[in-house]
Amino acid sequence: MHIERPFVLAPMSGVTDSAFRRMCGLASTDTVGLYVTEFISIEGLTRANMKSAARLAFDASVERPLSVQIFGGEVDRMASAAQIAEEGGAQIVDINCGCPAPKVVKRGGGAELMRQCDTLARLVEKTVNAVKVPVTVKIRSGWGNDSINAVQVAKMCEAAGAQMICVHGRTRLQLYTGLADWGVVSDVAANVKVPVVGSGDVTTAEEAIWRMRMPGVAGVMIGRAAIMNPWIFGQIDDLIQGKPQRTVDGAERLRVLRAFAEMAAERIPAHAIPGRLKQVLARMTKGMEFGSLLRERAMRAHTTEAMFDWIERFFVAADAGELDSWAVGARFDLQNPPPAA
Ligand SMILES: Cc1cc2nc3c(=O)[nH]c(=O)nc-3n(C[C@H](O)[C@H](O)[C@H](O)COP(=O)(O)O)c2cc1C
Repeated sequence: MHIERPFVLAPMSGVTDSAFRRMCGLASTDTVGLYVTEFISIEGLTRANMKSAARLAFDASVERPLSVQIFGGEVDRMASAAQIAEEGGAQIVDINCGCPAPKVVKRGGGAELMRQCDTLARLVEKTVNAVKVPVTVKIRSGWGNDSINAVQVAKMCEAAGAQMICVHGRTRLQLYTGLADWGVVSDVAANVKVPVVGSGDVTTAEEAIWRMRMPGVAGVMIGRAAIMNPWIFGQIDDLIQGKPQRTVDGAERLRVLRAFAEMAAERIPAHAIPGRLKQVLARMTKGMEFGSLLRERAMRAHTTEAMFDWIERFFVAADAGELDSWAVGARFDLQNPPPAA
């Protein structure tokens, strides 16, 4: 399968649901090279668990190509779950070999598979044979510093039929601390023929381009930076096209946030929207002037409309260069909350 643009929205559990993925597509004007779902439990999928099935939901008019990531440690169940994902519309099935969460590794899934190479080989082979779509694998650099085995694992996955390998350059024991080691990404790329996508700490469009130019690296995956900046895929595309990188004003931020809330409302209950909105807003306004004041103010709102009331005023003031006076009002409001009804 051909992926037109080698910049991929990383899978992030609790973040990259369909609404979030579509928000990235909207902000980045359909330049996301590949959308990956949050990881989905093979146990949940094969037992028709509602939460797992809901994670398969996507909008085919935007989220294309779509890779569905599945996790677990049982060989036969992985193959069956891959078939369910394929029937559900996955164009790629990705096997998670990187999740560090104790509840996942204890059951033989995620990063534990990097320590159970025989199981992993059988699991990849059986999954590849069970579906028509390409099967890919996302790994870490290894379990710990003294057991970096990404190259060995990647070669084995390739031999078992995996068509792409994504490497997050941290060990399982590192969790998300320290910096990703892109040397491991290069080592893997030098040792397999299938495309290798690197993941870890790409925060700007310039960095993405720089990483994509590393020898052998076929593409980059962007995770946390896309929460802060869902326009990043468009910005990478701008640079590739030789255009100036798009800038994002307050009106555009407001438009995209509103669209996100509307898309989220299609699939999750109204009372859960403010929570999702807060998660995105917290990252998106990080480092912005008076961003912390907006977060403090908006986080106290209990309804989506009340949140947007503050968000809108903030972004309008930002575009008008009037954030100082906005801040005076926001501080006054915080110190003088309206009496409880
Ligand atoms: C909140 C969160 C959830 C994640 N969930 C997944 C997941 O479901 N599957 C997966 O393979 N990686 C997951 N990751 C790892 C990311 O895909 C990515 O490899 C990692 O965050 C490093 O990239 P970044 O620096 O661009 O965020 C998650 C990361 C975060 C921060």
